Amino acid sequence: MTDRLAGKVAFITGAARGQGRAHALRMAGEGADILAVDLAAPLPPAVPYDSATPDDLDETAKLVEATGRRIRTAVADIRDPDALRTAVDDTVADWGRLDIIVANAGICIPETWDAITPGSFRDVMDINVTGTWNTVVAGAQHIIDAGRGGSIILISSAAGMKMQPFMVHYTASKHAITGMARALAAELGRHNIRVNSVHPGPVNTPMGTTDMAAAIAHAIATYPQLANMNTPFLSGWVSEPEDVADAVCWLASDESRYVTAAQIPVDQGITQY
Ligand SMILES: NC(=O)c1ccc[n+]([C@@H]2O[C@H](COP(=O)([O-])OP(=O)(O)OC[C@H]3O[C@@H](n4cnc5c(N)ncnc54)[C@H](O)[C@@H]3O)[C@@H](O)[C@H]2O)c1
Repeated sequence: MTDRLAGKVAFITGAARGQGRAHALRMAGEGADILAVDLAAPLPPAVPYDSATPDDLDETAKLVEATGRRIRTAVADIRDPDALRTAVDDTVADWGRLDIIVANAGICIPETWDAITPGSFRDVMDINVTGTWNTVVAGAQHIIDAGRGGSIILISSAAGMKMQPFMVHYTASKHAITGMARALAAELGRHNIRVNSVHPGPVNTPMGTTDMAAAIAHAIATYPQLANMNTPFLSGWVSEPEDVADAVCWLASDESRYVTAAQIPVDQGITQY
């Protein structure tokens, strides 16, 4: 590791586990202090994989502390703008700055289009779209006020560049995030704030557990012709959270200082298949 983010502060949502934890550890390893936010409580009922817990968030805190960097944690729902604002305002009051936002928290519910209920559609859009928006709004003004510029990274998906059948709501939400990043990049560019979206393919996290695989297989069985839509070019089908964290850390660092409004796939090539 180097000190590519020395002295910077990063606000990361969904940081209790999975990719969010990997982003926190990677950035701390590069010298950043971390505000780690997570729901750490049961996810909406249609989500077919286990929820994160306060113990998971504590484990992220221990791992970051072991790198020698500071971490603050907050149990908050990204659907709650006031809770996010309090967590960020308190952090900036204590540490004096905010430089990086990683809007990573999200949910996925595999189901055929006609199995989607008003409730599951609303849950996916509320968390993935409105929650991502709330995350940006909670932090962006602090970065603007400091006048140093910064980097905002929105975690979309391969489903936000190509599409993924059997999750229309998820695909719609991740396309919304892609558009959100591009439009924000235009308006925040004059403050030297870069905004990019990252598009992972399948990643080895709790979101990708056997329960999730079973739910996807169940949906594919209704229309097997679509089964090969996520075929990768590379031999590996599933990346590790750290592979995505490398790309996110690069976007957070000055090494990408002229990269904005970009869609960065870390997807084994599946969006091009
Ligand atoms: N795992 C994959 O295969 C994959 C592929 C492409 C994109 N993604 C995206 O990557 C991001 C991270 O997913 P992951 O794979 O680490 O999944 P994960 O389920 O392991 O982690 C997501 C975290 O977000 C938190 N979260 C969910 N809803 C929240 C809310 N309302 N408020 C606050 N926190 C909330 C969860 O508690 C959990 O800790 C998500 O946006 C996901 O859509 C994942």
